[in-house]
Amino acid sequence: MEQVQRHVTKVLQADAAGVALAAQVLRAGEVVAFPTETVYGLGGSALSDAAVAKIYAAKDRPSFNPLILHVASLAEAEQLAMFSDTALVLARRFWPGPLTIVLPVRAGSGVSSLVRAGLDSVALRVPAHPVALELLRAAGPLAAPSANPSGRISATSAQHVIKGLDGRIAAVLDGGPCDVGVESTIIGMVDAPTLLRPGGLAREDIEALIGPLAAAEAGKVSAPGQLVSHYAPHLPVRLNAVSAEPGEVLLGFGELAGDLNLSASGNLGEAAANLFWMLHELDARVADAIAVAPVPDHGLGHAINDRLTRAAAERG
Ligand code: TXA
Ligand code: MG
Repeated sequence: MEQVQRHVTKVLQADAAGVALAAQVLRAGEVVAFPTETVYGLGGSALSDAAVAKIYAAKDRPSFNPLILHVASLAEAEQLAMFSDTALVLARRFWPGPLTIVLPVRAGSGVSSLVRAGLDSVALRVPAHPVALELLRAAGPLAAPSANPSGRISATSAQHVIKGLDGRIAAVLDGGPCDVGVESTIIGMVDAPTLLRPGGLAREDIEALIGPLAAAEAGKVSAPGQLVSHYAPHLPVRLNAVSAEPGEVLLGFGELAGDLNLSASGNLGEAAANLFWMLHELDARVADAIAVAPVPDHGLGHAINDRLTRAAAERG
């Protein structure tokens, strides 16, 4: 694995000057964290093996895991991958937005094979965030995994990025908190449409448009979101708690208030937006464990429960 370079990490305001500076740093082959509507991404030029290697090194990410390629438009995505008719239907309806589509890579696209971890396919998304889109137009396409150390809680604010990656990346563009709060939904479209990772776009919304999605074959995709222990706080996590045991802090939902509440009104969109910062916050408390109230398993609850189950899994 590549040696991590030491940096004095700059926090840039997400105004025109900040975005221009971030784009310049990216074009020089460095990595920069930037806001998207889901979580902060750690961006590097998707056309440069050296830049992509720096992403893996900064995150300490096992290099067999492929990264998501971010572009500013569907037209740009079509230059990099081969879209089926169904893939076009999805992209036209849900981009920009929290949806990633895995497609066969186009020959001669120039996409670094490190982004694809050597696969013949590439994961693409157009994020719905004005700062991300501006940056992509100036310095895209960008490979960008979530901007957190590998296996740890994803970052939904510039402060969380700094907490995990200070000194390991050139800069972070501060665009405030992320609206969606969990990573994009990933649909494999190389064969039959397959749900590879539940995320910020509800499965029900996708199925309403293109019909039932197949389930991912366990162990087939070597991807970090699919590693069992992922999104891990430092404290152990106990799920489906109806009350806190002595020494536990409680993450509540709905009427089960807790020390922090994902959504007092039981709104799953609000709960998704609160999930990672509340886990960061409770993880910093003096406690033995984090207990988490039950969250309904439909709509965005599917993504929330996926992340919570991985946060609670035996550490590898
Ligand atoms: O919301 C998001 O998707 C965030 C923001 C920054 O856009 N990004 C993100 O990227 O979560 P990352 O790198 O943490 O997630 C990459 C995931 C892997 O877990 C894997 O499941 C999938 O993308 N992936 C990437 N390339 C793939 C491929 N060729 N085949 C199958 N899955 C792939
Ligand atoms: Mg991640």
